[in-house]
Amino acid sequence: MRILSGIQPSGRPHIGNYFGMMEPSIRLQEEGDAFYFIADYHSLTSTHDPQVLRDNVRGLAIDFLACGLDPEKATFWTQSAVPEVTELTWILSCVTPMGLLERCVSYKDKIAQGISPSHGLFAYPVLQAADILIFDSNVVPIGKDQKQHLEVTRDIANKFNDRYGADLLVVPEPQIREQTATVPGLDGQKMSKSYGNTIDIFEETEKKLRKKIMKIVTDTTAVEDPKNPEGSYLVDLYKLFASEDDVRAMEESFCAGGEGYGHYKQQLFEAIRDYYAPMRERREELEKDTDYVDGVLEEGAKRARAQAREVMDRVRSAVGM
Ligand code: ADP
Ligand code: TRP
Repeated sequence: MRILSGIQPSGRPHIGNYFGMMEPSIRLQEEGDAFYFIADYHSLTSTHDPQVLRDNVRGLAIDFLACGLDPEKATFWTQSAVPEVTELTWILSCVTPMGLLERCVSYKDKIAQGISPSHGLFAYPVLQAADILIFDSNVVPIGKDQKQHLEVTRDIANKFNDRYGADLLVVPEPQIREQTATVPGLDGQKMSKSYGNTIDIFEETEKKLRKKIMKIVTDTTAVEDPKNPEGSYLVDLYKLFASEDDVRAMEESFCAGGEGYGHYKQQLFEAIRDYYAPMRERREELEKDTDYVDGVLEEGAKRARAQAREVMDRVRSAVGM
């Protein structure tokens, strides 16, 4: 089973990225042939400073390895080190109906956020389809916001197979975990860089982490009154980091009343700090050993490229080249 996922190097990853994409990917590396990459071609739609792009790629590679991506188990590379995906993108573009892309909400969302409406941004889902299809991927772990892109990928694969021959391209399945489909941000909306409501995996200091958590929006229930744990973002976030017993204890304390939200925020702060502590340590080591990090990506690119070339040979020959 080939498992594949990608993530854009668009700044420091937050806990939405972690639970939506990174943590499930890391868990799945135990269960199949895992292929993970840093989507730097995709980031050209929004990152226009070459040094920022380079720094973000390196930073994300370090973060992903620190969180537990194991290069002995998973192939890990930078998208642009396998330029064959751009060739497949063109070929797939020619079987992709305009209407399919026009229906994509992410294009409209990104324009609404102020990203300039380029052809690259519009064609973004075709490049994503190529990323997936060029590796004969079976399973793609992603957050819920990527669901439509997976549907587009499946449509494109089916269109290609209808035109050129059944089973030429493997039609992939998304894997979206219900509990972490959408991690809430500080204001309760989806956690996202573009909403400015994120908690980064590796906040610079404990003080900054604590300060952010204290900003989580809560209602005005008085300290002594019972509080509703149902639908509380604080409890929802706590569930991601705490044991079942600790979650139950927090829920019971909510219902009993007698504690203010600040008390629960402190508990959440401690849970997040402790959860990421070993990864933070590993991150500090990796930051000092960038040769190792670059070596992992180079080795990964070699393996990925060999696999991509096989599929490209099949595709080129199928279309008449
Ligand atoms: P952002 O919205 O911060 O720009 P991206 O769109 O770059 O994040 O998302 C990268 C990956 O992380 C995707 O797989 C996406 O589904 C996942 N992801 C991002 N935000 C969340 C969230 N709040 N909850 C769950 N998964 C998320
Ligand atoms: N579009 C994805 C995101 O914004 C990143 C991505 C690019 C991706 N190519 C992919 C995810 C292929 C899964 C598979 O997060």
